[in-house]
Amino acid sequence: MAPLELPNTHPALRYCWHPVARSADVGDRPVRVVLLGEPWVLARFAEDGGLAAFPDRCPHRMAPLSLGSVEVAEGVAAAVVSGGPRRVLRCAYHGWCFAAEGRCVEIPALGPGSAHIPPKAHLRAAAGVAERHGMVFLRPLAPEPGQPGTEELAPLAALPDVEEAHDPAFMAGDLPVLRARASAGLLADNFLDMAHFPFVHAATFGAEEPVVAPMTVERAASGPFGRWTFTSVSEHPFLHREDPGVADGVRPLVQRRRVTYRVHAPFHLVLRLDFLDAGGTNVIGFFLQPETEDRTRIYSTLWRDDVGHDPERMRNAVDFELKVVEEDLAVQEAYDVLSLPLDPAAEVHTRADRTTLELRRMLAELVEAAAVAGGPARRPTASVR
Ligand code: FES
Ligand SMILES: [Fe+2]
Repeated sequence: MAPLELPNTHPALRYCWHPVARSADVGDRPVRVVLLGEPWVLARFAEDGGLAAFPDRCPHRMAPLSLGSVEVAEGVAAAVVSGGPRRVLRCAYHGWCFAAEGRCVEIPALGPGSAHIPPKAHLRAAAGVAERHGMVFLRPLAPEPGQPGTEELAPLAALPDVEEAHDPAFMAGDLPVLRARASAGLLADNFLDMAHFPFVHAATFGAEEPVVAPMTVERAASGPFGRWTFTSVSEHPFLHREDPGVADGVRPLVQRRRVTYRVHAPFHLVLRLDFLDAGGTNVIGFFLQPETEDRTRIYSTLWRDDVGHDPERMRNAVDFELKVVEEDLAVQEAYDVLSLPLDPAAEVHTRADRTTLELRRMLAELVEAAAVAGGPARRPTASVR
């Protein structure tokens, strides 16, 4: 049976990457994050990276490991930790120490020696933890090799990348991380939606043409992300108030803009705006962390090649974008049901909604593929409300 909806804690999302922190916020101390209703601890095992993520629960008496500390391995633990980062995560309750890959290397109450460490004392690390564009991404689970569905879900192991972030012509500017009483699926839907601009964003950028231009929506068939990605492109006239050429009389106020959305499952969204007459490109990255059933954190970064690398102009752009997101949240936080409908019959779609319909299709396929892989994805380890 086709999946009906996608709430924030759907088990299929456990096979995907999600942002869980800004890199700068994970220093020497363990950091607790919540993803898909489950608590995790992030710990840096080396100054220059060496990040690991474990369920935030000590196997001994279930104390949150995020209360503990990351320490340079000494004595007995140092003898056991060989190669790799020589630091350990120490639980604050009874001092058990864990190496970067999750191995328990010291139980102080048993004295020196690791001979007595029970096999169940080891932590099971997340399937993936990685840093990109100043964010920490976590992937809770990888499908078990040999299980049905593994091949289908394998491309989800690739972490999406924003190509403009590597182009020196672009300057980056981060919005503050926002937390909303909202659904990641619905926020993603809203980010891809263009028909709301004149209504929700009348006070910022949207006081213009309400007709949504035709778009081409292209789903990938193969490539590093398999079919878990699509692109939507359209071109439309808009009022280019920021163009100095308008004031100088060199160009008209109404100019052409190309809008390209690049979407990676589940909630990695990039909007690229190319100003076809005045030149210049704005890129908005929008990455969502489904924390709990009714809470989502939003990481957004702008990349612009038209601010002359001027921090002041970038700050203004970030402030403006923040207002735009707040306008969106006023609607999104008012929803009663916080879950993205995946059943095409549950809503009314028009040709102006092709991009957001493709999001639903792709996520519905993801849910189905994950259900085939089944197994551990269906068993969350703990839950946070
Ligand atoms: S609960 Fe962590 S060491 Fe006992
Ligand atoms: Fe919006």
